[in-house]
Amino acid sequence: MGRHFLQIPGPTNVPDRVLRAIAQPTIDHRGPEFARLASELLERLKGVFQTAGPVVVYPSSGTGAWEAALVNTLSPGDKVVAFETGHFSTLWCEMAARLGLVVDLVPGDWRHGADPDALAERLTPDVAAVMVVHNETSTGVRSRVPEIRAALDRAGHPALLLVDTISSLGSMDHRHDEWGVDVTVGCSQKGLMLPPGIGFNAVSDKALAHRGRLPRSYWDWEPIIEANRRGFYPYTPPTNLLYGLREALIMLEEEGLPAVFARHDRHAEATRRAVRAWGLEVLCADEREHSSSLTAVLMPEGHDADAVRRLILERYDMSLGTGLGRLAGRVFRIGHLGHFNDLMLAGTLSGVEMGLAAAGVPIKEGGTRAALAYLEGGR
Ligand SMILES: Cc1ncc(COP(=O)(O)O)c(C=O)c1O
Repeated sequence: MGRHFLQIPGPTNVPDRVLRAIAQPTIDHRGPEFARLASELLERLKGVFQTAGPVVVYPSSGTGAWEAALVNTLSPGDKVVAFETGHFSTLWCEMAARLGLVVDLVPGDWRHGADPDALAERLTPDVAAVMVVHNETSTGVRSRVPEIRAALDRAGHPALLLVDTISSLGSMDHRHDEWGVDVTVGCSQKGLMLPPGIGFNAVSDKALAHRGRLPRSYWDWEPIIEANRRGFYPYTPPTNLLYGLREALIMLEEEGLPAVFARHDRHAEATRRAVRAWGLEVLCADEREHSSSLTAVLMPEGHDADAVRRLILERYDMSLGTGLGRLAGRVFRIGHLGHFNDLMLAGTLSGVEMGLAAAGVPIKEGGTRAALAYLEGGR
């Protein structure tokens, strides 16, 4: 009985308002009503990306939007610099290599973000693009994108800056235009509070002018942007998800992006206080780089994170994020993003605390209380 707690770092809880918006009759995607919807949406979307430029919307998961960013801008054999910040940066690099790009990977320990100093050393003239995962969902580490931009600017290097904001968009500040990002990759099922199924590319003028020669068809921006001018798509768009997207964007506008980001910062800080009061370690190792949308918690030696997650699911009906790749079994991840408030965090942390104790993990008492004390301290 009661509601399931979906506290993985995406897909996230979908607000009832958004579910109701989706539950409408599907309309003709070549008719005037759709054209009005799409034209309105394409303008509204610019707000969440903080851009004045076009946002391309795909019926896809985030992985599709990754591929779109690469195949639209790059040519076979192009060199890209990427950072090993965790599981998702690794997957994006593997995709780049499969597409015929040459990846210069800056190694990492999965506890830090992309290193701007390491980038400066690798900016040889043949680098065509730099790939950064803004918020590494596998580790809860935020890369400092403005510092990556500054490293490119200091070197006067023309490489394109491609940024994955899949688990930060709509939760953590990301400024596509101001930070000089060329392609921002996003998707629907995290900060935008929608079900999975929509991928995004926000595109700079520089990226639009710099068309690569990698083969592309479905992902090609050009026919989409051309059809968008009239409010249409060159294929059948995910009409009902777009109704939901409109409602979710209105909700974010009503709250205001600065308040949305502050809410996420506050819940993340409260979560870290709980983790530390339990005597456990937050995976992110740099105070400047904490994610505000999720927290990855390191398990003490000899304790399996997945066993704790299983117990919490069975006993308290709460889903937590699993450890991915080399972190399997060593961390669990608490998602505190999207449609989320103080009492949901209180319930989430209570479930984690009870689950850790029930699983026999040695923790100190008072973690949830430490988080509540921080939340009580003000909005
Ligand atoms: C940072 C990041 N990039 C890419 C992806 C892949 O997105 P999808 O699973 O929607 O294809 C994810 C998925 O969680 C992610 O967190």
